[in-house]
Amino acid sequence: MTTSLLDVEDLNVSFHMRHRSLHAVRGITFTLHEGQTIGIVGESGCGKSAAAKALVQLHPRHNTTIQGKVLYKGQNLLELSDRQMQRVRGKEISMIFQDPMSSLNPTMKIGTQITEGIKRHHPELSSQAIRQQAIDMLSKVGIPSPELRFDAYPHTLSGGMRQRVMIALALVCQPHLLIADEPTTALDVTIQAQILDLLKKIKQDGNMSIILITHDLSVVAHFCDRVLVMYAGKIVEDAPVHQLFSQPQHPYTKRLLLAIPRLDQAKNQSLHPIEGMPPNLSLPLKGCGFCTRCEDAMHICAEQGPELIHVGPHHRAACFKHDKRARP
Ligand SMILES: Nc1ncnc2c1ncn2[C@@H]1O[C@H](COP(=O)(O)OP(=O)(O)OP(=O)(O)O)[C@@H](O)[C@H]1O
Ligand SMILES: [Mg+2]
Repeated sequence: MTTSLLDVEDLNVSFHMRHRSLHAVRGITFTLHEGQTIGIVGESGCGKSAAAKALVQLHPRHNTTIQGKVLYKGQNLLELSDRQMQRVRGKEISMIFQDPMSSLNPTMKIGTQITEGIKRHHPELSSQAIRQQAIDMLSKVGIPSPELRFDAYPHTLSGGMRQRVMIALALVCQPHLLIADEPTTALDVTIQAQILDLLKKIKQDGNMSIILITHDLSVVAHFCDRVLVMYAGKIVEDAPVHQLFSQPQHPYTKRLLLAIPRLDQAKNQSLHPIEGMPPNLSLPLKGCGFCTRCEDAMHICAEQGPELIHVGPHHRAACFKHDKRARP
């Protein structure tokens, strides 16, 4: 029996600028179970990061409206004060971003940054024990000679090493949920594979659930249990990973899968980029956001928005092909 760790209900995120507002996340609902890894995929600008940051309230309050529910262990995180949320971040939920320098303090030794994190959550520990925990963590994330690196500043490390330090920082308080937003995109493929293996191992060792945001469907195939496909601020498909790859139900997912380069593909066979543009998220959306790019679009697709409905026991898709409202 799996227990749900996170229930996101009808989450909406809007950014307000001087002359316009942008509705970046448009009512997403999903569940993450304990120990599960969910991948979130979708093309640039579809709202992946906006949704992830909303889960842990990392958006500036003055120009962002967040609506819906983010139930973590049954508690709605959107109702917590900044102070209560600070306690949740790090101890319960950690985030890793694409750019390590955005999370690391350039003026602080890496060891100190990690010990600060441990101290905040375990003030009862002696400084010797805290130092040892930090060194163990650096070693666990694959940093060679961690005792020596303890006193290094971030800028003296390579990109891959900095990424590892950021992961150490995110994991040091043993969060139950790790949200990793494109954690390896900036790295070369070998380091990318090492870091993903490392996350997999740490996940197996502890009781951690992961939300992994990525452009890379091959990463999803190797790493995730479930996949959410986002398009124009909405979830358009939600399926167990094998089902998504073997029986994709949404035309957008099918096009994404066609765009993956394959080793067995003939050299002269071209990839299938998805033509056209996603809708402007500053404007209200009439109909399905994908309909102008969809080869299977029907009349109703331009008129009404399809709902995310079950197309199998654990599989949801938002497409009128599966919706009885579209049938005569
Ligand atoms: N702080 C902000 N203020 C205004 N608009 C924003 C802000 N953050 C994101 N947006 C806009 O919200 C939309 C969704 O952005 P988001 O960063 O969530 O996309 P994404 O799916 O993470 O894309 P990528 O794959 O490029 O990281 C985009 O149109 C983006 O320009
Ligand atoms: Mg992003």
